[in-house]
Amino acid sequence: MSSTQLNIVIMAAGKGTRMKSALPKVLHKLAGRSLLQHVLGMSERLGQARRIVITGHGAEQVETAVAAPGLSFVRQMPQLGTGHAVQQAVPALDDAAPVTLILNGDVPLIRAETAQALVEACAGGSKLALMTIELADPTGYGRIVRDAEGGVQAIVEHKDASPEQRQIREGYTGMMAAPTAALKRWLSQLTNDNAQGEYYLTDIVAMAVAEGLPVTGTLAPSETEVLGVNSPLQLSDLERRFQRQQAETLMEQQGLRLADPARFDLRGQLTVGPDVEIDVGCVFEGQVSLGEGVRIGAYCVIRNATIAAGARIHEFTHIDGEKPGGAKVGAGALIGPFARLRPGAELGDEVHIGNFVEVKNSTLAKGAKANHLAYLGDATVGERVNYGAGSITANYDGANKHRTVIGADVHVGSNCVLVAPVEIGAGATVGGGSTITKPVGAGELAVARGKQVAISGWARPVKKPK
Ligand code: UD1
Ligand code: CA
Repeated sequence: MSSTQLNIVIMAAGKGTRMKSALPKVLHKLAGRSLLQHVLGMSERLGQARRIVITGHGAEQVETAVAAPGLSFVRQMPQLGTGHAVQQAVPALDDAAPVTLILNGDVPLIRAETAQALVEACAGGSKLALMTIELADPTGYGRIVRDAEGGVQAIVEHKDASPEQRQIREGYTGMMAAPTAALKRWLSQLTNDNAQGEYYLTDIVAMAVAEGLPVTGTLAPSETEVLGVNSPLQLSDLERRFQRQQAETLMEQQGLRLADPARFDLRGQLTVGPDVEIDVGCVFEGQVSLGEGVRIGAYCVIRNATIAAGARIHEFTHIDGEKPGGAKVGAGALIGPFARLRPGAELGDEVHIGNFVEVKNSTLAKGAKANHLAYLGDATVGERVNYGAGSITANYDGANKHRTVIGADVHVGSNCVLVAPVEIGAGATVGGGSTITKPVGAGELAVARGKQVAISGWARPVKKPK
């Protein structure tokens, strides 16, 4: 589509009373992104367009949250109905664009293909195109009133509808594509003479019919795409529908093996190689990449991480790289159960990180192992290092972080404190229970602990019988 073919108006001024939340409704999240971001992301795929968001309730918060180049905001204060909302956008519309697409900020799962089809139904501004939906229970929806030949005559809001009209099951989804010039004219003629005392956008349909402009009503391809969010329950329902779609796409198109697609949550992008298996209850956030043959155990949370081929992430492991690529796990590595990898954890091939081990801003070279109850922060760890249970790097002096460098083939015994900055040379051994404050040379044994004392003839106190 060439430049300025389309205006896109996104309505996001409503209060969202039924959310019972201080957060404006359109900022509530679905799969890690706000409802409004879903609609905006979709709208970017509609080619060159002028995009206008109508804000009102929590306007400042909404505008700050979604601000982007080329996006403009129009405020609607107070909110006197959907027609009144679009009236506020009129000065911001590009007259050179023959078609204006109207979307809802709280209808997050509309696909670009569907919105594009609606724009095309407007036929360059020679028709008014409505998106409709057949509903088992259309309560609350504006009804599509058609004549005997099936031509659309009007939309009648539920509260204004006669008992006969309420029998109509075709409802208006809230999305339409209108001729820009005619839309401006119709909006200026709206009145609020109706059951709710509001300016209804939907009244323009009868105006178009009166002018002899063709009106088309196109059924939405699926209910999921046109469902809006008005309550926490509806939000969770759409979340599950969206998660199911993502799971199915990954399974059908990439061969991902999910133990249960109903117990899978992706809040971002997941790329998977062949033969990847994910057990139940895992959450993936940000950008996560899983190489060939990776297996993820149950109940892991993995955010912004790259996991290479053949690695196994056991149950209840938490990996958080913070930024994309912020945590890396090498090929064939074994992580967890109950491991925690934090930002800057870069683990080489065949590294083992066992239960209750925390790694932050540290590089572990190939084959290094920390199998139990340990902390590695701001450390550089060489190949094949064995880091004992209970050992920690004391990397923080209360003001600054310092590095610990551990050479290849070092053996750190259990319960050691490596007080950074400190360096341990290749092949050195640190005796269990040592507090290391000075450098250890290559190949040396360092022992820094109280000597064992043997006291003979000592008697342990004994409880007296009652
Ligand atoms: C609207 C439609 C109805 C349709 C239904 C689909 C009208 C008059 N009715 O009804 O035919 O079946 O959506 O869900 O258009 N908004 C504003 N400013 C306002 C009022 C609303 O920005 O002054 C926004 C809301 O934030 C929301 C959208 O417009 O995103 C729809 O508003 P809502 O009050 O939900 O409209 P309904 O009464 O449900
Ligand atoms: Ca609504």
